[in-house]
Amino acid sequence: MKAYQLNAPGDISQLQIINIAKPIPTANEVLIKVKAISINPVDVKVRIGKAIYEKLKEDRPIILGWDVSGIIEAIGNKVSEFKVGDEVFGMINFPGHGKAYAEYVTAPHDHLAIKPSNISYEETAATSLAALTAFQVLRNYVKENDTILIQAGAGGVGHFAVQIGKILGAKVIATTSTRNIDFVRSLGADEVIDYTQTAFEDVLSDLDFVLNALNEDVLQRSILTVKKGGTIITLPSGGNSEATFNLAKEHNVTVLHQQVKSNGADMRQLAEWLSSGKLKATVSKVLSFDELPQTHTIIETGRTRGKIVVTLSGL
Ligand SMILES: NC(=O)c1ccc[n+]([C@@H]2O[C@H](COP(=O)([O-])OP(=O)(O)OC[C@H]3O[C@@H](n4cnc5c(N)ncnc54)[C@H](OP(=O)(O)O)[C@@H]3O)[C@@H](O)[C@H]2O)c1
Repeated sequence: MKAYQLNAPGDISQLQIINIAKPIPTANEVLIKVKAISINPVDVKVRIGKAIYEKLKEDRPIILGWDVSGIIEAIGNKVSEFKVGDEVFGMINFPGHGKAYAEYVTAPHDHLAIKPSNISYEETAATSLAALTAFQVLRNYVKENDTILIQAGAGGVGHFAVQIGKILGAKVIATTSTRNIDFVRSLGADEVIDYTQTAFEDVLSDLDFVLNALNEDVLQRSILTVKKGGTIITLPSGGNSEATFNLAKEHNVTVLHQQVKSNGADMRQLAEWLSSGKLKATVSKVLSFDELPQTHTIIETGRTRGKIVVTLSGL
């Protein structure tokens, strides 16, 4: 089978197609024929030697990618809830070695959910790492009638977080640039702040919760908008400088980092919301497997709307 190997940390030329044997599922795994892969900023970070690169580097070949949708082709002898031919999707082995940039991938059965038949491979692959992140954060901190701020409401995580915030009954405010205002409103946001026109900390106060998908400057300004006793979850690593710690303490705001984890039960909740139309993935670009390295260049702009997906459906 074809797979993209990361030769060494560096630019996209380090992603090279190799031919390797199809992986064999262990007792608790399934083998998936991959139909679509979604790409996340962490893929880029690992490619350049950051995030969990150190954890993966001894396990060669390094194959990036965590989000897939596809068809089960073989199952391990302890797997009972799936069968050959089932269409499944999920975030595989995160934070670990996902190996999803390939024609076939093995996945622990409890990282997956059945793909709703009314939702495409591309949309289900898209509703993996980014959607799980939004769900795993918001369900812990957000209750009905809370007022919450989603930073970067048009992005991969943000566009799911706006929708899940509404599902949980919160009043949702989100930031984005001018061209994405109507898009973020269409996701259900009650209020959209155009960050190119307005400094959000000038117009927001007493929020219950903020989800920060941006840098430490935005994190520090977010602290000013949260009520005493409120919480901010910040997604990028970093954001733990002394200045941030002191500001949070001064305002009596809890700032925490949270990392998404593979979880089949959570995937099933996302599948149910997708199937019923409560949650929608926006896939703004679909590239072919041969074009996969270009998806990193797109993600690196930091300006993508929703998700970028690679399709293998034609292969
Ligand atoms: N801790 C974890 O487990 C975890 C999980 C997922 C993601 N993350 C991290 O969270 C971050 C976001 O991930 P993502 O997948 O959502 O990224 P993404 O899809 O690449 O985010 C792109 C979006 O950011 C928006 N944006 C850029 N600058 C902005 C600003 N100043 N204010 C408001 N919006 C702005 C852009 O909207 P405009 O074009 O309108 O500016 C664009 O839609 C990344 O650093 C990622 O690695 C961490």
